[in-house]
Amino acid sequence: MEAVTASSTSLADPGTRTAVRLVQVGKTYPDGLEVTHALRSVSVALRPGSFTAVMGPSGSGKSTFLNCAAGLDTPTSGQVVIGDQDLTSMSPDDLTRFRRRSVGFVFQAYNLVGHLTVAENVHLPLLLDGRRPDADWQDHLLQAVGLQGMDTRLPGELSGGQAQRVAIARALVTRPAVVFADEPTGALDSATGRQVLDVLRSTTRSLAQTLVLVTHDAQVAAVADEVVFLADGNVVGTLGSPTAEQIIARLTTTGR
Ligand SMILES: Nc1ncnc2c1ncn2[C@@H]1O[C@H](COP(=O)(O)OP(=O)(O)O)[C@@H](O)[C@H]1O
Ligand SMILES: [Mg+2]
Repeated sequence: MEAVTASSTSLADPGTRTAVRLVQVGKTYPDGLEVTHALRSVSVALRPGSFTAVMGPSGSGKSTFLNCAAGLDTPTSGQVVIGDQDLTSMSPDDLTRFRRRSVGFVFQAYNLVGHLTVAENVHLPLLLDGRRPDADWQDHLLQAVGLQGMDTRLPGELSGGQAQRVAIARALVTRPAVVFADEPTGALDSATGRQVLDVLRSTTRSLAQTLVLVTHDAQVAAVADEVVFLADGNVVGTLGSPTAEQIIARLTTTGR
């Protein structure tokens, strides 16, 4: 019995517990008569509670990697597993439900709903999942991201850094196991960006969440447990517990 179960899920779980696993993930997009290979064959395994930074030149596949890992996009080949759930074998409805409950996503452009208040934006993912807002938890999150007392503001009344903190609180409100962030500080000045990153790292750490973050900033990536370098749709290197100097040295060989 054991062996049958194990072999039928061998790609998904070869024995070690991982929070996120990509197995030979490929993603092509049609491009006229050709196809663009956004991801060629990407395999990674991320530990629960770890912080992984994803780096690479523009067009190297970072966003495609994140979108496929988060279930926002469907790979053309290979397998994506979060916890013990194989996203690539789920129906679209199951995938949507799973994503709402288990995945948080922070976008570069904040993507707040302009006519909803800060509080309404933060509890939107709960409403979409048919759950009731939890006022205490929301207060806790707004406090954690440094926006206590701003519940009734509208996004248009916030600075970029404040808007991104709202987006972080919103990404965490369902207590997802994994949080993905695609260049979340790309639209912010570097000092504000570092503050927002500190908030994201400290809140995900206190909730024991796995964090996967695309960044161009070697100082930011140096805080990660591991850096994954992408180039031309492939993983071309990794660095564990890296220093900023090591990251910069690697970037000068793979480009940024
Ligand atoms: N929706 C899409 N349709 C067609 N091509 C795409 C799409 N998304 C990404 N690509 C292409 O896939 C490659 C990787 O893009 P992307 O993942 O956005 O890279 P990065 O985030 O590293 O800049 C690029 O060549 C890009 O033009
Ligand atoms: Mg991108």
